Amino acid sequence: MKFKGRDIASIKDFTREEIDYILKITGAMEPIAKSGSDMLRGKILATLFFEPSTRTRLSFEAAINKLGGTTIGFAEPKVAAIKKGENLADTIRVVEKYADVLVLRHPLEGAARLASEFAKVPVINAGSGAEEHPTQALLDLYTILKEKGRIDGLNITLMGDLRYGRTVHSLAYALSLYKVKLFLVSPELLRMRREVSDAIKKRITIVEGTGVEEFLPETDVLYVTRIQEERFPDPAEYAKVQGTYKLGVETLRDAREDMIIMHPLPRVDEIDHEVDDTPHARYFQQVWNGIVTRMALLALILGAIE
Ligand code: NCD
Repeated sequence: MKFKGRDIASIKDFTREEIDYILKITGAMEPIAKSGSDMLRGKILATLFFEPSTRTRLSFEAAINKLGGTTIGFAEPKVAAIKKGENLADTIRVVEKYADVLVLRHPLEGAARLASEFAKVPVINAGSGAEEHPTQALLDLYTILKEKGRIDGLNITLMGDLRYGRTVHSLAYALSLYKVKLFLVSPELLRMRREVSDAIKKRITIVEGTGVEEFLPETDVLYVTRIQEERFPDPAEYAKVQGTYKLGVETLRDAREDMIIMHPLPRVDEIDHEVDDTPHARYFQQVWNGIVTRMALLALILGAIE
């Protein structure tokens, strides 16, 4: 297995063996995340965010700082006027001279792949339109493993905007490398993208539905996402689905006692705040897991750990 110098454009570029190794290194990063380290001293991470973000960008910045490196970059969504692949390529060819690793978030699908083809330094995809968000999938897997002690053998329910949500696309691909059963719950209009469901059902069993209640008695992990309003081509379509699913304490009546609830955040109204106080909620723990996962990824691709 070789990680040094690698891009993280899509979760599909990784084998199960490689993902298991990343999860192992992530576990080893937990104490280092508390104590700090100078493993990446002198290394510069550039954040190129053409779309709004708080936690993903801050999480990468925290991760490299904890390992002794520094960051440069921009996070001004207005520059999203740079819409042509050609302009992005030029930006990449400039910024790569300043940094050892680039973290890119872009509204266009395929943007991270394109950037990785131009850049000589590794490119990490921090969200490419509605397509993928591979580092989120890795921190989600790490959260499942940490909380449940395993991934194989679990029943996992993905609920929400499965059409435009990039986190659930990457997560579904990643989970399909394990022996899991997936329940996919969404309004009809927001069903899992065909290209994702076609690919994963070759490997695992998936069951689709529109109501979460029927799946709760069997669910070990419930992963909820917000409706990605900004991705709808037509506001009238959004109006049809707005507020159509909501998880409240009442909904959870038939849930397994040890079921955990995850969410990539930000949440809008799909999980009631009352749920935060139940023993199921894990979405704020996920944020910490994001830092340790990104520390592991940076240490691996920058060659500080083999
Ligand atoms: C997600 C994203 O940007 O895709 N947020 C994140 O990275 N934590 C989820 C979302 O915006 O709904």
